[in-house]
Amino acid sequence: MTLDSFVRGLPKAELHLHIEGTLEPELMFELSERNQIALPFASVDEIRAAYEFTDLQSFLDIYYQGAAVLVHEQDFADLMTAYLRRAAADGVRHAEIFFDPQTHTERGVGFPVFMKGFASAQRDAEEALGITSALIMCFLRHLPGEAAIETFQAAGPYLQQVQAVGLDSSEVGNPPELFVAAYQAARDQGLRAVAHAGEEGPPSYIEGALDVLGAERIDHGVRADEDDALIERLVAEQIPLTMCPLSNVKLRVFDTLASHNLKRLLDRGVRVTINSDDPAYFGGYVGDNYLAVAEALDLSREDLVLLARNSLEAAFLPEERRRQLVSELEDYAAS
Ligand code: HPA
Ligand code: ZN
Repeated sequence: MTLDSFVRGLPKAELHLHIEGTLEPELMFELSERNQIALPFASVDEIRAAYEFTDLQSFLDIYYQGAAVLVHEQDFADLMTAYLRRAAADGVRHAEIFFDPQTHTERGVGFPVFMKGFASAQRDAEEALGITSALIMCFLRHLPGEAAIETFQAAGPYLQQVQAVGLDSSEVGNPPELFVAAYQAARDQGLRAVAHAGEEGPPSYIEGALDVLGAERIDHGVRADEDDALIERLVAEQIPLTMCPLSNVKLRVFDTLASHNLKRLLDRGVRVTINSDDPAYFGGYVGDNYLAVAEALDLSREDLVLLARNSLEAAFLPEERRRQLVSELEDYAAS
């Protein structure tokens, strides 16, 4: 079997995926016309040509601008359906999907609109493709902690649709400590917690995410590598890192895939996973990420099975579904 078909067939979970980051230029263009929202681009090719980033912020500016074409429930359903189809084709059996409510509520698009759109698409995809999914509500860290609390309150009627809270957007200068109250409120309601940390920010943000926010997984976490004691802690506590290698190269966290620390941390016993982050902007979905890393870092098939197993172990799955998926993975690896 070719490496390409081997990685796409691996039963896996995707745990770091921003639904707004799956908005392909074609759908962006279509929605801009459908909703009469002007874009500063004349064509799909012009949109794609604008995707040259120098750091996280240069990406975020374009990403928030693109999300402005999402207005109606059907738009959010179309976005979610397109992602789940691509994910299923890449062997994703379960996805835990970030959404950024403040990106929409700030434009007057409310919770009922996006939550209903997501729910119908998730239900349809599970029925048609057998892919299960959950939602992780992210707070935008460039906005105040108070705004995160207000967002959590606004989500009240839809909390049964939300499995966890997360933290994203501009990292440096916006440490986890600013979001303690919002996370506390979420955990008091029984939600799970994750947070972006150590993508551009220092290792101390990873410690903060674990210690003051109660994060159970760290999104990215690549800068943990600068602190040996922190790596030892991640290994001892088996805290998952949801890494996104193609994203890291596009946003210049690493110069090249060959210099990425994923394999080194995996070999040290960190529970590393591979994910796509914002695939419409970074040039590949989760299967492309597995394949590119396998080639650049010379991963063995055993490494790839371990990465897929880590994704299933790190997911917030009911134990019965987890056992079912792990056993699918074991059958695949043995075949
Ligand atoms: N980092 C921070 N915020 C984000 C990202 C990311 O990689 N993708 C979408 N929002
Ligand atoms: Zn991310």
